[in-house]
Amino acid sequence: MYTAKLIDHFNNPRNTGIIPDADSIGTIGDPECGDYIRIYIKVRAYRLQEVTFEVCGCPAAIATTSILTEIATGKSLIEAMVIDEMDVVKALGGLPDPKIHCSNLGTAALRQAIIGYLQSQKTE
Ligand code: FES
Repeated sequence: MYTAKLIDHFNNPRNTGIIPDADSIGTIGDPECGDYIRIYIKVRAYRLQEVTFEVCGCPAAIATTSILTEIATGKSLIEAMVIDEMDVVKALGGLPDPKIHCSNLGTAALRQAIIGYLQSQKTE
């Protein structure tokens, strides 16, 4: 059973789409063969100024990534790195156990985007 909040985020996902001049992008999955999430970030002063996403996945994947963008926006990179799937599940008011793994995808893609950003800063 999905919560009303999850259904809202599924029906009206927030922060969707690409950021054309993103500072970094994190991708989890493969668009050719299944679940796939791409997270775009804009960073200012080591803080997430903007977080958007594209997803090909189940309703839980869409809703969990949508609320993840809301949780992460405005956070420092360090704060955002430690957002985990249970933070996402809690923010949605719960998620059926078989769907918990769906909430891993967005958090993993976000971490990948942040790591990519930090690595790009190191090489500049
Ligand atoms: Fe694969 Fe939800 S993302 S079942």
